[in-house]
Amino acid sequence: MQIIAVVSQKGGSGKTSLALNFAIAATVSGRQSVVIDLDPQQSAARWSRLRSLEEPVIVSGHAPNLGQLIEAAREGGADLVIIDTAPKSETAALVAAKAADLILIPCQPSSLDLDAVADTVNIAKLAGKPALFVLNGCKAGSTLSDMAAEALADYGVPLATVRIGSRVAFVKSLAEGKGVVEYEPKGPSAGEIIELYTATTKKGDM
Ligand SMILES: Nc1ncnc2c1ncn2[C@@H]1O[C@H](COP(=O)(O)OP(=O)(O)OP(=O)(O)O)[C@@H](O)[C@H]1O
Ligand SMILES: [Mg+2]
Repeated sequence: MQIIAVVSQKGGSGKTSLALNFAIAATVSGRQSVVIDLDPQQSAARWSRLRSLEEPVIVSGHAPNLGQLIEAAREGGADLVIIDTAPKSETAALVAAKAADLILIPCQPSSLDLDAVADTVNIAKLAGKPALFVLNGCKAGSTLSDMAAEALADYGVPLATVRIGSRVAFVKSLAEGKGVVEYEPKGPSAGEIIELYTATTKKGDM
């Protein structure tokens, strides 16, 4: 069982969107995935109420019971656990990061996100677990993403080769209780998620 924590101290960087789309990519590829929602906003848990299908399983939790929730997922036969974390939540984010095999750090190509990324990198370094930046919300034809990639290179954390575009499909799919691989399976958003999912998950082939 692989555990991925999606962590960013900056609000709105795309943690929940990434966590849910990863879990759905796993479901579509026949793997059992569980999302543990540590965010008091409960965005992932609320999203699951829009969804007619039972998988992926979404459970709400708090940092102190994360270990128990992970064990329950393992006993239930999960292949992949994704932990969605809250912004501005250093202690809980660190607990999640320590529990993970891989930490994904979504970051938008904007100075506001880039200015805040050092706090998240500190959490990943304290946790001592492998981390990967993911540029999210990249606009086509803009040089902002290249500039952001250059700025992120200073932190000693690798950057995912695939960049997630700023795409309406990410918003519309979640509003319908779906992920992009279900909403537009042949579309560019699904292609990006599948590429990132395949590059970062064990047995990630779809
Ligand atoms: N690649 C994308 N393209 C377009 N919109 C996106 C993309 N990723 C996320 N969004 C939108 O940006 C907003 C913030 O995304 P999301 O809720 O996933 O961020 P978050 O990091 O989980 O936020 P929070 O810190 O509040 O938990 C949402 O409205 C979401 O639909
Ligand atoms: Mg969120």
